[in-house]
Amino acid sequence: MAPELLEAILHQKKMSMNRRDWIKNAAIAGGSLTLPSLMRAQAQPTAKKSGIGDSTYDFINLSINENQWGPSPKAIKAMEEKVRFAYEYPGVPFQKLRSEIAERSGVEADQVLVGAGSSDILMSTSYVFGKDNSSIVCSDPTFGDLIRWSKRHGTEIISIPWSEERKPDLPKILASIREDTGLIYICNPENPTGTFLEKEALKDFCREASKKCPVFVDEAYIDFAADAESLTMMELVREGLPIIVCRTFSKAHGLGGMRIGYAVTSPEIAKQIGENYVSGVVGGSSHVSLEGARAAYADEEWISYVREQTKKVRDDFMSFCDSIGQEYIPSHTTFMLLPVKKDSKMIADTLYAATKIKISPRMIHGQNYLRISMGNPAQMDLLKTGLRLVLS
Ligand SMILES: Cc1ncc(COP(=O)(O)O)c(C=O)c1O
Repeated sequence: MAPELLEAILHQKKMSMNRRDWIKNAAIAGGSLTLPSLMRAQAQPTAKKSGIGDSTYDFINLSINENQWGPSPKAIKAMEEKVRFAYEYPGVPFQKLRSEIAERSGVEADQVLVGAGSSDILMSTSYVFGKDNSSIVCSDPTFGDLIRWSKRHGTEIISIPWSEERKPDLPKILASIREDTGLIYICNPENPTGTFLEKEALKDFCREASKKCPVFVDEAYIDFAADAESLTMMELVREGLPIIVCRTFSKAHGLGGMRIGYAVTSPEIAKQIGENYVSGVVGGSSHVSLEGARAAYADEEWISYVREQTKKVRDDFMSFCDSIGQEYIPSHTTFMLLPVKKDSKMIADTLYAATKIKISPRMIHGQNYLRISMGNPAQMDLLKTGLRLVLS
């Protein structure tokens, strides 16, 4: 970015310039966007189709991979209707959701763990398989929750740097399994890259690796792929291998705030984790959340809608990156990772100061990156204008 531009933006921040004025200036500086579209970005920070209101943030949050399309209108209705049953413990909807997941996954209900977000399951798994002087093998970078918790109770983390393609290096991960390894953590699609591993390669890997210890496959973002069901490792669970496939309602289903996730695994592993996890029947998710998740699970039309909208936004953003000569890692999810030439934190801070858009700066193996969640088109218009300035 030209130093005078950075100075001007920082000066504007100091002067507490209001965003409407900045947007006008940015539109002029960016040249390619119309003022009305930017005004819409300001007025409508979130998608309206599902009937949800504007965001509760006082900024635009493109840093934690929330689904800007929100939950299915049917899920909203189900949650509203169930509020009056809030006095009941959530046993009934818990068991119903569990059975519905089991049926669709082709397993028995005792192979399904439902938790307060998949974080709940990640944490419980780290306690079961990551203690007693054991080690966990994972790719680096990857999603950090299970790794962080495992470290806290003394587990050694064997992190294998990503491959040249910036994907988990499966052969090296396999070769790094030790006698004391209690678990392998693979995130597919990967966070923060948004890349998929080739299905057969991952299947072969899971078959081999699971001879030594359980493999946890975090499929939090799999619903964003059109062929999600053909990419999942669920069939290995059905074959009886010690694989834990973990999913969440926080992403494509737009229920991040309701805290529901689940895992499908062997009956033995489900029992082991089940005895140690926080949720159980009454400990974790609420009645309302569970009913929302049930309705969201049934509404496949909404998931298709979210998937299509996200793809449109992602494709458009990739074209934008091409147009400004910005490298990116092609993604199958609701976020993208961009290698950048300057300090990523400085870029993110400047963008925030200028647009109130929050993105996630990263330093990976000595290289600066930005991880950006896909917003709705209006948010993305504002983002593109900001990036055009801060990346130049
Ligand atoms: C890969 C991955 N797994 C799991 C989670 C946890 O999600 P939740 O606890 O909302 O289900 C996230 C959240 O961002 C994620 O990116």
